[in-house]
Amino acid sequence: MIIQPHIQGCVARNCHPLGCRAAVHEQIERVRATGTFAGPKRVLVIGASSGFGLASRIALTFGSGADTIGISLERGPSEKGLGSAGWYNNIWFREAAEEEGRVALNLIGDAFSDSMRQQSIMAIRERLGQVDLVVYSLASALRILPDGTQVRSVLKSTGSPFSGLGYDLEHDALIPQSLDPASEQEIRDTVSVMGGEDWQIWMQALAEAGCLAHGAQTVAYSYIGPESTYPLYRDGTIGYAKEHLHASAEAINLQLAGMGGHAWVAVCKALVTKASAFIPVLPVYLAVLMQVMKERGTHEGCIEQMMRLFGDKMYGGRGVLADGHRLIRMDDWELDPHTQAAVAALWARVTPENFRTLGDFTGLRRDFLALNGFGLAGVDYQAPLEPSSLLALHP
Ligand code: NAD
Ligand code: NA
Repeated sequence: MIIQPHIQGCVARNCHPLGCRAAVHEQIERVRATGTFAGPKRVLVIGASSGFGLASRIALTFGSGADTIGISLERGPSEKGLGSAGWYNNIWFREAAEEEGRVALNLIGDAFSDSMRQQSIMAIRERLGQVDLVVYSLASALRILPDGTQVRSVLKSTGSPFSGLGYDLEHDALIPQSLDPASEQEIRDTVSVMGGEDWQIWMQALAEAGCLAHGAQTVAYSYIGPESTYPLYRDGTIGYAKEHLHASAEAINLQLAGMGGHAWVAVCKALVTKASAFIPVLPVYLAVLMQVMKERGTHEGCIEQMMRLFGDKMYGGRGVLADGHRLIRMDDWELDPHTQAAVAALWARVTPENFRTLGDFTGLRRDFLALNGFGLAGVDYQAPLEPSSLLALHP
């Protein structure tokens, strides 16, 4: 079969398995070109199959020689289709890491569940002994609580509605989008799914099971953004969840104090991922930001952000470079005042007619397609792919 990209709204409905391999290898090559750092050797990555979690795993394995266990919720090939990009990312990452002699175990299932925590604890004992770092990088719309209750996160504003131009990836057009104000229950539910409660449960379980090495650290990922995006992010439901995540870092830090451990939040820059493409209006800001940061030479992708996080700000030999609130500011270049002034000026001029000439929508589309294995150099997209060869691949 020949696979063409199928985008619906802002969701990719398929992926190209061999393109996913090229994308994973591209990230590995960028790490190799950057050089090594003296980082952790045994790492658990929760949310390891795409976006920041995958980039973390690649940076740590190929930059610091880390053995890793990665948890993700992904779909393999079935009657319904070839499976998700993250499914293949796991496979290609493991193959490349094992070629280097590294442990790279993939656990597929619900990271919010106690059974996944137990499975991970057993795997850590068996394969790594203990871990020196836990990366928490989940992005999810659903959390199933231990009692079976399903809680859903929503992307809404709070207080008053917010509207603006959004980007329709399917039709390459700008369209009006709006965020309705969330109810109190919706805010609480989003905090339950995307806040820090589950992160804290993980760290408690790992500590009690003796899986954390002395001095172990943990980091979760957050976003704050410039004031111009506050109505749709920081002051929206997701912003409340991130606020909770930040507070959880303080609580987890205290929890780890007895064993010399620390908890941090890395506040990352806005980037195209499966999760961020889904946030109303934000992709227009993203395209304008990409335009400006590329012009200024400060643009970074997921892998560059994670190399700078681990290689410089966490394990660069100067201790962890965080502010007084346990936040590691990886959004420093995004929030640079000159950058933001240029972004604001451009963003104000964007219309459904001129957007392609003002923002880097071409780059945004290219990055989005690449997340799903499309448009990568060196891949023969005309060569038919034999679905049965994919069934033989295992995470
Ligand atoms: P992503 O969608 O690329 O990755 C999410 C990961 O979580 C995947 O590996 C997926 O398999 C896993 N996952 C989801 N639900 C799961 C479940 N129930 N059980 C196990 N695994 C599950 O998203 P991302 O953009 O890399 O987001 C990761 C974190 O980074 C989020 O906290 C996000 O808010 C944060 N962040 C993102 C941006 C951005 O611009 N993309 C910026 C700053 C911070
Ligand atoms: Na991730």
